[in-house]
Amino acid sequence: MADAQTVLLGVTGSIAAYKAVELARLLIKRGVTVKTVMTEAAAEFVTPLTFRSITGHPVGIDMFEEPTEWKAAHVSLAAEADAIAIAPATADAIAKLAEGIADELLFSVVLASKAPLVVAPAMHTEMYENPATQHNLDLLRSRGAVVVEAQSGQLASGDVGTGRLAPPEKIVDAVMGELGRARDLAGHRVLVSAGGTQEPLDAVRYLGNRSSGKTGYAIARECALRGAAVVLVSAPTALRSPRDVELVAVRTAEEMAEAVFERFDEADAVVMSAAVADFSPAEPSIGKIKKDAAPKSIALRRNVDILAELGKRKAKQVLIGFAAETDDIAANARGKLEAKNLDLVVANDVSRPGVGFGADDNEVVLVGPDADETLRRMSKVQLARHIVDRLVGLLEARGRPA
Ligand code: PMT
Repeated sequence: MADAQTVLLGVTGSIAAYKAVELARLLIKRGVTVKTVMTEAAAEFVTPLTFRSITGHPVGIDMFEEPTEWKAAHVSLAAEADAIAIAPATADAIAKLAEGIADELLFSVVLASKAPLVVAPAMHTEMYENPATQHNLDLLRSRGAVVVEAQSGQLASGDVGTGRLAPPEKIVDAVMGELGRARDLAGHRVLVSAGGTQEPLDAVRYLGNRSSGKTGYAIARECALRGAAVVLVSAPTALRSPRDVELVAVRTAEEMAEAVFERFDEADAVVMSAAVADFSPAEPSIGKIKKDAAPKSIALRRNVDILAELGKRKAKQVLIGFAAETDDIAANARGKLEAKNLDLVVANDVSRPGVGFGADDNEVVLVGPDADETLRRMSKVQLARHIVDRLVGLLEARGRPA
């Protein structure tokens, strides 16, 4: 039997700390080894003995205490973790995780670890909604952490609002999702494009679109976690590069085309999630166009269709494209699949609020040569897993002799 995977449960100083006991119990029920590290504040709410009794392992709190079971302190614990779950995560803990502050054992372990991170916040509504906390959570998300959002309900203070720790079952699902990853892309090279290209109009203005890059960055991260060598060709975004991914920063469709074509031959698969401008201003002004010299119209020229070109050049590569549609979603996507010689198209309705461009979620249809798969609305992180699962299937099928 395979060795049980290890989850490092980080408990921080919130009244919800007692719920982490149930979380530990549920994780153990799912066959996981749980090792707990508490902050000093957490130990004011629940005793370490409770976690030691539930998990059967010593609980770490003090950075400088002589370890009883682990050979070295934070570094070995960090290496041992297959996933880290911080639940509950206070505003203070989230700020430290975002800033990389390592003033307690727990935060040192997180900093020293490459394991996937799940963060489940719990705090008073005002603290949760504070732009500082939301910014820190965004920062963690952009680095690939999975945030299990706090829920609305009655808080410890008696107030009602958002800030309650998500139900332990939901946190367990998120942790198991992070653990379940196989290294099924090891040995493969995947090229992912992300973001919206910017086509200069003059020295400071451009034609662009609302792509945030979240989808492409999530796909690149998922591929890297599953062992692929990943190149992420990215138009400008506000996101940080996922870990273990080579980032190639571009601005225009032309630059993206050049970067993608240059790397295409050595890629086993390409996922084009970028929103590439179909048109650029034909004669961008070198200086800034003055207000009183504004042209009545702007002449546009067509940009190269990168994906269509890849479809013509493709030898062994798996090609996954996206289709941003507003009507007849699956039918239009199938048209793109055939016209561009693709293996899969991720079709999304970009006219709907809350999904698609810029949103955290999406709801798509995966259109393959033989069948469509309609996926429910989900986070772009979860969607990335589905797309990469399909990518693995396509690569495997390609590897099989006819
Ligand atoms: O970045 P996010 O905020 O997470 O938003 C995600 C998304 C909405 C951008 C993404 O889900 C999406 O739909 N991406 C494709 C957007 C798009 O350009 O769609 P399209 O239907 O115009 O193009 C079809 C395919 O051809 C796409 O894979 C596109 O990358 C590619 N293309 C398009 C034009 C062009 N000149 N070259 C291309 O390669």
